[in-house]
Amino acid sequence: MAFKIGLLGLGTVGTGTVEILLNPQQRHPLLQELAIHRVGVRSLDKPRSVELPAEMLTTDLESIVTDPDVDIVVEVMGGLEPARSLILKAIAHGKHVVTANKAAIARFSDEIFTAANQAGVYVLLEAAVAGGIPVIEPLKQSLCANRIQTLMGIVNGTTNYILTRMQTEGSSFDAVLTDAQQLGYAEADPTADVDGFDAADKVAILASLAFGGRIKLEEVHREGIRQITAADITYADRLGFVIKLLATAKRDANSGTEGTEQLQVRVHPTLVPKSHPLANVNGVYNAILVEGEPVGQVMFFGPGAGSGPTASAVVADILNIAAILKVDRNATHPDGSPLLDPLLACSHQHYSAIAPIEDLESRFYARVLTQDSPGVIGRLGTTFGNHDVSLESVVQIGLKDNQAEIVVITHCVREGNFRKALAEIQAFDAVANVPSVIRVL
Ligand code: NAP
Ligand code: HSE
Repeated sequence: MAFKIGLLGLGTVGTGTVEILLNPQQRHPLLQELAIHRVGVRSLDKPRSVELPAEMLTTDLESIVTDPDVDIVVEVMGGLEPARSLILKAIAHGKHVVTANKAAIARFSDEIFTAANQAGVYVLLEAAVAGGIPVIEPLKQSLCANRIQTLMGIVNGTTNYILTRMQTEGSSFDAVLTDAQQLGYAEADPTADVDGFDAADKVAILASLAFGGRIKLEEVHREGIRQITAADITYADRLGFVIKLLATAKRDANSGTEGTEQLQVRVHPTLVPKSHPLANVNGVYNAILVEGEPVGQVMFFGPGAGSGPTASAVVADILNIAAILKVDRNATHPDGSPLLDPLLACSHQHYSAIAPIEDLESRFYARVLTQDSPGVIGRLGTTFGNHDVSLESVVQIGLKDNQAEIVVITHCVREGNFRKALAEIQAFDAVANVPSVIRVL
């Protein structure tokens, strides 16, 4: 008996998914037991690049998630609503769900996974983070023997493409963004990508899996890349760094032991040493570096988006569910409640505590524009020192429009102290501006 799939969306990812499902040859034999049953779209008139019987398509997506014949609902329509309501309705009707929708999962995971556990169904989301790169399943299963310490990655291809081109061409952010939009690499409204929202959604999901607690998205510190200038890229390069938009989740070293510990979960541009493995991840590629005990460092690299790569992750999730259904559709606990594979289902209900960003300890790069007058560098050093901010280097790079451009790199310092010192420095008469502050790995 075939497993029947109700597909919500036939765009980039939906089309890639159909292409795999219609061409099972030389792939896993279980694919031959999957059947596309119905496909939900917004417009029935749109030309499609995959051939499906016209009667399979519908604009009534609710009829798909309530269809008694559908076993697995695949949500690849995107957006928050009606995606959230349709996922919840599918769960309420006993359907397993596969989704690529990081925005919905990062915001509504609490109600979605609570509902799924109660209904005894799976909600799998390999495609939601880093497209074709297997990272969700490895965190849930292959790495589950480890105590994860740090997870750090480049999880947004658009911003990595823009930063890579700024690096190689010396161009400005605005020029590369405009070109990337014309080439179709960046959306017409680039906000979700360039302001770090997409990466914040993804790191919230990864942190939840790596550290076994739900994450409140509003507690994830988020900065984008709009403020990165060609000058910063050039100075970073001279100092031995590249600038990347890094998503980081780690146990906070200053927090308490088990039960009281806090996590750092954040997205911001970072100066990455050129020798670091993430420094060489360029263009639209994504990579995630996971550090666990006892495994050490493991890096996942590959295409973070695109029709085929993302569909590869979607279909893997469908196959995982089909495999479980094939072994036992109706497995129950002795009390009759539904039995779910504990490695695939969501097994945590509490929220992780997130450390405030002021308590983060990091190195910082700051570019300061000042009058070129005696004593300015001395006053900068004294002010940082007064706030316990130790400096690794202070370099006057040159003169620009009659102003001295001074680049400061700190040792590892508390962010709150650094910000207080910087606020005092910005108030100096001799200081015109502090155009850039970037954390350093
Ligand atoms: P897309 O190309 O815009 O396709 C969306 C599809 O959903 C279209 O077929 C559209 O119908 C349908 N749809 C949207 N809203 C609908 C509504 N209210 N009612 C009925 N149908 C509706 O999107 P996508 O790029 O495939 O992305 C889908 C999901 O995958 C998103 O959550 C996205 O974040 C995620 N994702 C995408 C990628 C990627 O590379 N694109 C990578 C990873 C994750 P019509 O065709 O009739 O317009
Ligand atoms: N907009 C995303 C990116 C792709 O640029 O990486 C979908 O996750």
